[in-house]
Amino acid sequence: MKFLYKIISATAFFLIFINILLHSNQRGRFTYMGVDTCKKCHNEPKGLNQYSIWVVSPHAGAVKTLRSSKSKKISEKYSIKEPAADLRCLACHTTGGGRYKRTASEGVGCESCHGPGSSYYEISNHVNFRSRMNGYVKAKKLGMYPILKYEDNLLKREKLCLSCHNNKRLCRPDNINEIRKQKISIQVIDKLRKGDVNFIHPLH
Ligand code: HEC
Ligand code: HEC
Ligand code: HEC
Ligand code: HEC
Repeated sequence: MKFLYKIISATAFFLIFINILLHSNQRGRFTYMGVDTCKKCHNEPKGLNQYSIWVVSPHAGAVKTLRSSKSKKISEKYSIKEPAADLRCLACHTTGGGRYKRTASEGVGCESCHGPGSSYYEISNHVNFRSRMNGYVKAKKLGMYPILKYEDNLLKREKLCLSCHNNKRLCRPDNINEIRKQKISIQVIDKLRKGDVNFIHPLH
């Protein structure tokens, strides 16, 4: 009887262990590759030119911003000594929130908006030249975020943009007019354009 009990409890523990293993694996399934991985293909003169548009956009300079005197001043309020190395600032100023060495200083890179690329970055996992929709459907199962216009996903895209562009952020201005100026409207989210800042980067 005692022996049987031992076997049953050992089996139960084994199953719990496997379950934990499976779930931890699920959660950490996708990770970040960094802009240089995407640049390998998305840096052509035409069509696949997304990198050259990104690299001159404010998103690419978001870590550099954390080294400015303005950042120093903001940081004093929170007793943050080195904003460009502090997760409280990097949370929105770089890909993966500063938790990944490979993307700790690239700024708001491709994968901040398109999702961690470790499983979809290879061409066969996100591209289908006969049906772009099919390529995208496969990529979404492998970690790509559903923010493109193949389907009506403006609300999901809005959620993504506002996860950083919100008024809870530590660097929000004190002045109400400044807050208004920095607001990202649904038109900006739709068109990827705000005044002089224009980072629209379609394939064709
Ligand atoms: C080996 C080359 C290659 C690499 C590496 C690569 N891409 Fe692509 N990507 C392509 C090609 C080619 C297309 C489709 C072009 C077409 O349909 O005309 C594409 C399409 C896309 C699309 C449009 C949606 C889709 O699935 O078709 C997105 C978004 C995208 N890539 C993002 C990325 C990101 C982000 C990375 C880095 C994590 C990346 N790509 C890495 C070659 C690549
Ligand atoms: C991971 C966080 C993050 C995400 C996601 C994000 N942004 Fe940003 N964005 C930033 C940061 C940080 C800056 C400031 C960059 C700098 O100047 O250093 C910025 C700057 C901008 C600017 C220029 C500043 C301004 O207000 O004129 C625009 C426009 C913008 N983002 C639009 C968008 C849109 C549209 C989306 C969604 C498609 C988006 N962003 C997604 C973090 C993010
Ligand atoms: C919740 C996301 C988030 C966090 C956390 C965050 N930022 Fe920002 N930061 C943004 C966004 C979004 C912008 C772009 C604002 C705009 O101009 O529209 C920005 C812009 C800035 C700017 C330039 C805009 C300006 O006001 O002139 C500075 C400087 C800055 N952040 C510093 C910091 C510092 C320092 C920290 C840490 C104490 C920090 N940020 C934390 C999202 C964030
Ligand atoms: C601030 C968020 C953001 C960043 C950063 C960003 N993208 Fe995008 N990207 C988008 C959004 C939103 C769209 C959809 C635009 C549309 O449908 O009008 C898009 C569209 C695309 C497309 C075109 C899909 C199509 O069917 O036309 C490709 C390819 C792409 N991005 C690749 C990249 C690459 C590569 C990088 C980095 C060099 C990058 N993106 C950086 C938000 C972003």
